[in-house]
Amino acid sequence: MDIEELKRQAAEKAVAFIESGMVVGLGTGSTAVHATRAVGRMLQDGSLSDIIAIPTSEATAREAEKWRIPLTTLQNNPIVDITIDGADEIAPNLDVIKGLGGALLREKIVAAASKQLIIVADERKIVPQLGTVSPVPVEVIPFAQRPVAEFLASLSARVVLRVKEGQTFITDEGNIILDCHFDGIEDAAALGQAIRSQPGVVEHGLFLNMAARAIVAASDGITILKRE
Ligand code: 5RP
Repeated sequence: MDIEELKRQAAEKAVAFIESGMVVGLGTGSTAVHATRAVGRMLQDGSLSDIIAIPTSEATAREAEKWRIPLTTLQNNPIVDITIDGADEIAPNLDVIKGLGGALLREKIVAAASKQLIIVADERKIVPQLGTVSPVPVEVIPFAQRPVAEFLASLSARVVLRVKEGQTFITDEGNIILDCHFDGIEDAAALGQAIRSQPGVVEHGLFLNMAARAIVAASDGITILKRE
């Protein structure tokens, strides 16, 4: 089965957790987009109603608008019933790395405001330990690029400024991203705290203790993992 089909299956399984009347966080990326589209279709065919959604990026907002999904903000709706989002790595305890799509800051804000965060992914995202495949993206104020990069290197990261189409990648909040490559992360909580302590760091892509479930699609079926 092709990867795109697995992404769609995981996302559509997650959408079944949404009930009419809910405030829904819409994630970002090539997996989460299938959830946005499924919500749009269900609103159109009447199987869901009275949904209002908070997009986690400008790209997701544009997709939601295409499907005429009513949008709101955290200012108007500070409590989100359920958020469905993708991930770059999923550890056995459902801690995840996010942000290769560049939306980690808004994603983490929406996840933190959510009663339930459901991660959707294909099986390639499962890892035995965080930091083995994906870098940890760190969103940084441009003014602080060099001191933050040097600080992250002192934590044993190989630090790479994110570039897209030949240009420094700029997030929806006007910041840069430093991708931090580790050879596996022993203590993700300690690393997260250390990264946050550095002035100029806005947020990092370690989403620890946040996901309630991960819905993972593989060619032999879908697994729903639940946080203990
Ligand atoms: C965006 C993200 C994405 O959810 C993550 O990168 C996974 O993306 P994809 O589903 O395209 O693999 O965190 O900031």
